[in-house]
Amino acid sequence: MSKIFIDACKGKKTPYTPVWMMRQAGRYLPEYMEVRAQAGDFLSLCKDPEKACAVSLQPVDIVGVDAAIMFSDILVVPLEMGMELKFVKGEGPVFPHPVTCMEDLDKLDIEKGAKNLQYVYDTIKLIRGKLAADKALIGFCGAPWTLATYMIEGQGTKTYAKVKKLIYTNPEFMHALLKKVTQTLKLYLANQIKSGADVVMIFDSWAAALEESAYFEFSWNYIKELVGFIKSNYPDNPIIVFPKGISGYLDKIDGDFDVFGVDWSTPIELAKEKLGSKYILQGNMEPTRLYSKKAIDEGVDKIIKVMKNERHVFNLGHGILPDVPVENAKYFIKTVQEKTKNL
Ligand code: CP3
Repeated sequence: MSKIFIDACKGKKTPYTPVWMMRQAGRYLPEYMEVRAQAGDFLSLCKDPEKACAVSLQPVDIVGVDAAIMFSDILVVPLEMGMELKFVKGEGPVFPHPVTCMEDLDKLDIEKGAKNLQYVYDTIKLIRGKLAADKALIGFCGAPWTLATYMIEGQGTKTYAKVKKLIYTNPEFMHALLKKVTQTLKLYLANQIKSGADVVMIFDSWAAALEESAYFEFSWNYIKELVGFIKSNYPDNPIIVFPKGISGYLDKIDGDFDVFGVDWSTPIELAKEKLGSKYILQGNMEPTRLYSKKAIDEGVDKIIKVMKNERHVFNLGHGILPDVPVENAKYFIKTVQEKTKNL
C-alpha cells in the first residue's frame, strides 16, 4: 500500500498534503502523561520499547497525523556513547560531565554507542508492526553540531560561549568531536532504517548559533556527509533536514537529501524561492497559532496560498507546546487534510 507521506517526500502527486507535527508525541496529550508516569521518568520511557511504541502511536490514533515519529530523544546518542545524562525537572536535559578535552572524547565509543541504542531499534520494529500500512514511520537524530553543543555546554545555553570558544580557539578539537558523532549517527540512522523507519529526519536545532562560514564548516558539512552516506546506502528512504533559524543562508544549502524543513521564522515564500525547485519543503506554521482555531485557519490558508501546486509536507515550524489543547491539534490536522484535498 502506498504511503501518502512517502509519496509527498518523493515529489509525487498526493490526494491531499500529508501533515504531522514536530514533538507530536508529548506532554499536550494526557495519554502520554499517563504512560510517562507508568514508566517513572522520561529516559525510562525512551528505554522501554513497548511504552515508547505506545506513545509514538498516540498522535496517529488520537490526532490523525499522516506519519508517526518514533519516540526517543536526540540526546540518547551521546548518552549511549558514554556520557551520563539527566533530565532535571524544570531545567531540561543536563550532561553533568561535559566533554572538555581529547581525553574525554577518547572515552566515547562509536560502535558501542550505535549498539547500545538497541532499544530504539526495538521501538521502531514494534511501531512498524502496529502502524497502519498507509502511515509512514519517521526515525531521527540530532545534527552533529546540535549534539556537540550539548556535549560541550552540558545543557541548553543562551550564549553558546563554551562551544563557540572552541570553534575559534581549537577548531581541530571541534572537528574531531564532530567526526566521531557523525560516524555514530551514520550507524544509528542506518540501523533505524534497517529496523523499519521509512524516513529519517535530522534536527539541527541550534543551527542559528553560528555565523555563515562557521555554520557551513562546523554543521552543514557534517549533515551533508551524513545524508550522503544514508542516500548512497538507502536510496529509497527519504531524508528530511531541519536546520532551525538559518533563513539568511538558504542560498548555500545543497546536498543529497529530499525534504527541507522550514522553521516558522523563515518566510515560506523565501524557502520556496531559494530551495523549492531542488527540494520538497516541509513546514512551517507558527506553533503558537495552535492556541486559536482562527489563527490556525489563517496560518493554514497563508501556507496553502504559497505552496498550492508545489510539492509540500505540512508541519509546524517547530515543536508543539505542552499546553496546547488537544482539540486544537486535531483541528489543525483535519483543516490541512481537508483544505488541501485535490488542490
Ligand atoms: O514527538 C516527537 O517529535 C518525537 C520525540 C522527540 C522528543 N525530542 C521527545 C521529548 C524528538 C524528535 C525530540 C528531539 C529533540 N530533543 C530536539 C530537537 C528538536 C527540537 O525541538 O528542536 C532537542 C533539541 C531535544 C533535546 C531536549 N529533549 C530538550 C531541550 C528537552 C526538554 C525540553 C522540554 O520540552 O521540556 C527534551 C525532553 C523531551 N524530549 C521531551 C519530549 C516529549 C519532554 C520530556 C517530558 O516528557 O517531560
